[in-house]
Amino acid sequence: MEIIRETDMLRTRVETLRKEGRRIGFVPTMGYFHEGHLNLMRMSVSDCDVTIVSNYINPTQFDRQDDLEAYPVDVERDRAMAEALDVDIMFYPENLYETDHKTWVRTEKLTDVLCGRSRPGHFRGVATIVCKLFNIVNPHVTYFGQKDAQQAAVIGQMIRDLNYDIRLVLSPIIREPDGLALSSRNVRLTPEHRKKAPVLYEKLQIIDKKILPDLSNKDELIQEAKKTIEAIPGVRVDYIDIRSWPDLEKPDHTSHRLLIAGAMFMGKVRLIDNIIKEL
Ligand code: PAJ
Repeated sequence: MEIIRETDMLRTRVETLRKEGRRIGFVPTMGYFHEGHLNLMRMSVSDCDVTIVSNYINPTQFDRQDDLEAYPVDVERDRAMAEALDVDIMFYPENLYETDHKTWVRTEKLTDVLCGRSRPGHFRGVATIVCKLFNIVNPHVTYFGQKDAQQAAVIGQMIRDLNYDIRLVLSPIIREPDGLALSSRNVRLTPEHRKKAPVLYEKLQIIDKKILPDLSNKDELIQEAKKTIEAIPGVRVDYIDIRSWPDLEKPDHTSHRLLIAGAMFMGKVRLIDNIIKEL
């Protein structure tokens, strides 16, 4: 596996690969790999001729300085893990923003709900860095995890709105044996909170099971879930919501798929999870 740090060098490599007719798969990440990331890489390695993984902690998507500072890093471990999966190139840039950066990509409406409500500027940072990475990597296919469902919806919208010729593939959520969705932030949970962390997925599953076809019990189910989760000491629910997928509108009888999504703070650690339900 090649590690490329310079943007221009990556561009030149990709140009050559494209001329040779290779199909390029791209997995954007912020590093500290776990099975969720590795699954995206495996999908790309099996579908594409060349797999490029970016490993860059994007400062503009963090709405809290303490969260950015506490973000775990282990590049040596990341390198070994990606290499073992036959990833071809890891793009590991030092910095992707000029000091006078002024251009932002903002996807309207989709970012007013769910995580966008409580993390101002977050999706602007995500859409901008992914746009920059798409322009540098110029892939045929890109792989995103359903774990960050709203992020995938925003990037799908951006791909259509800005005429990128890139196919977006969504990977299912990879979980611990007890149901907790894998996340780089899980290592920051206290042992007590780690034990209780699967509660979010459990409550989303209950909503999935009990929701009536006309959605008339939606608010009641959401309230019930919030109450049980917030009974755990040091835990606060950010939101639990049901939206149409992938447009994230208020669902109604015309919705074909629902996104049942939630976010909670366990101490300072914010965890998210979701279920996509076919109707
Ligand atoms: P990061 O949190 O590193 O996630 C990289 C990719 O891995 C995302 O597409 C995310 O949805 C996916 N992923 C994370 N946990 C997963 C899990 N348990 N199961 C399946 N997929 C999972 O998401 C980002 O980085 C950044 O916002 C980025 C897109 C790189 C832009 O900076």
